[in-house]
Amino acid sequence: MSEIIRCRSKLAKYCEGMGLNLGFSGDPIAPTAITVHLPQSCACPDSHPQNLAGDAVRFHWLSDGSFDYVFSCHLLEDFPPSDTLNIVLELSRVLKPDGHLVLYLPDVQLYRAHCERTGKDYNPAHQNPELSLAWFEKEVVFNLDNLRVVHSDPLVEECSFEIVVQKVGYVRKKAAEAAQAGPPATELPQESAGSHRRGRCLKGRKTSLADIVRQCGNAVTDTPDYFYDQFLEENFNLFMPRIPTASVMLGRNVLDGAFRSWGLEFGCLKELVFSDPLYQEAERLVQGRTLIPRPKLANLYLLIRCFLPRLQHSNIIEFGSYRGGSAVFMGFVARSLGMSLQVCGLDTFSGMPQVDARIDLHGAGDFGDADIEEIREFVTRAGLNNVHFVSGLFQDAAEELLNRIGPIALAHIDCDIESAVRYAYNVVKPFMVPGGYIVFDDPLHGSCMGALQAVEDCVVRRDGLHAEQAYPHLVYRYPPLV
Ligand SMILES: C[S@@+](CC[C@H](N)C(=O)[O-])C[C@H]1O[C@@H](n2cnc3c(N)ncnc32)[C@H](O)[C@@H]1O
Repeated sequence: MSEIIRCRSKLAKYCEGMGLNLGFSGDPIAPTAITVHLPQSCACPDSHPQNLAGDAVRFHWLSDGSFDYVFSCHLLEDFPPSDTLNIVLELSRVLKPDGHLVLYLPDVQLYRAHCERTGKDYNPAHQNPELSLAWFEKEVVFNLDNLRVVHSDPLVEECSFEIVVQKVGYVRKKAAEAAQAGPPATELPQESAGSHRRGRCLKGRKTSLADIVRQCGNAVTDTPDYFYDQFLEENFNLFMPRIPTASVMLGRNVLDGAFRSWGLEFGCLKELVFSDPLYQEAERLVQGRTLIPRPKLANLYLLIRCFLPRLQHSNIIEFGSYRGGSAVFMGFVARSLGMSLQVCGLDTFSGMPQVDARIDLHGAGDFGDADIEEIREFVTRAGLNNVHFVSGLFQDAAEELLNRIGPIALAHIDCDIESAVRYAYNVVKPFMVPGGYIVFDDPLHGSCMGALQAVEDCVVRRDGLHAEQAYPHLVYRYPPLV
């Protein structure tokens, strides 16, 4: 079976207009694609001819900026890792600005394991044993600042991944810089901020800002992350003075907090997140089902995508799910990223319990229009077997649930009133993994003075915690970082 069958439904939408289908094997991604294969022609059926014969990675016969897309399916794994960057550079050269490079590739380690498991013959043409989505983002995309990831999926079928990058428009300038660049730098560069800001190069790779963060020992991980790295590079001047000093201060990571809060409030991060296809898909899924505004969804997205992978494997709990929107959002994102964690949402699903009218502006019975059966059906329809809802007062249901599901990496506390916020925080604390994230949705809202009082009393005064971020919601690390 042609591999294209496995990826067409998701990737064909990026292959519109005039484009190339490289490594063509008889079934083009789009009927109008210009099909290209090596001169020793492929076994193409008569129904669809091979249009061009040539080396798919040396396009001297094609002009710059000619195509809306270049598609290739199971091809780049047949080149040594050291060639991949320059091949992608060449492919992007022939793309128009905003054009898409659309790749469907094997995760070679998973493929090898699959062959061992099934007894299938391993394809000896594979030359890049490291190839995976993470490798491709780190070794290729990260080094080409004319490319922006618009879609990725680390695991398609049993052992493939897909990535779509868009050309952002200035490859010629960058290519010219690269051509002039010297040999790769191996140590921390002694260059000016300005030159470093331009420093991600194409061939002679220089140390990136994110690499410096890691080398200074301030990063919690050495796993590169697209958003994090891209953002630090974009905001070099703001963050550089802070990087050599310890980022972990008073139990929280100041740099991580600033990355998310400053980035979403003032920086380019909101554009990066809002234009991310996975974010968009998750947001669409819960449209009309959540009261959480976009910046808060974006922050939950960043926490799950960039930060939870740094913690010990554990789950997500939500106190206050109402119509299920935020829990489903988190579950969808986690599942799409291949994370095996579970998301559990608690609520009465019949409205607010008794409130303390001296401090809470919400009244008993508010949010009473949720329907737990309808929510569960929605979750089933969405195929999210990692999202579960438990109906009842937190005070009756939470402890038993927490004992059952075990450690928590992210607690989303969105229940508006003093007694519920206080209870939720106190009950979840013993279950948090080191450095876990406790997100309070509402204390900074005018209608939620009770929530603010609970945080002031328990989190700030009693436990002495310092927030890692206050925009778009309050985020604490617990147990605090050391
Ligand atoms: C603002 S809504 C949650 C919004 C939701 N996260 C979303 O995505 O739209 C707050 C919810 O907290 C729930 N709640 C408040 N106190 C509670 C308690 N003690 N036990 C159970 N649910 C509670 C209410 O029933 C209400 O549905």
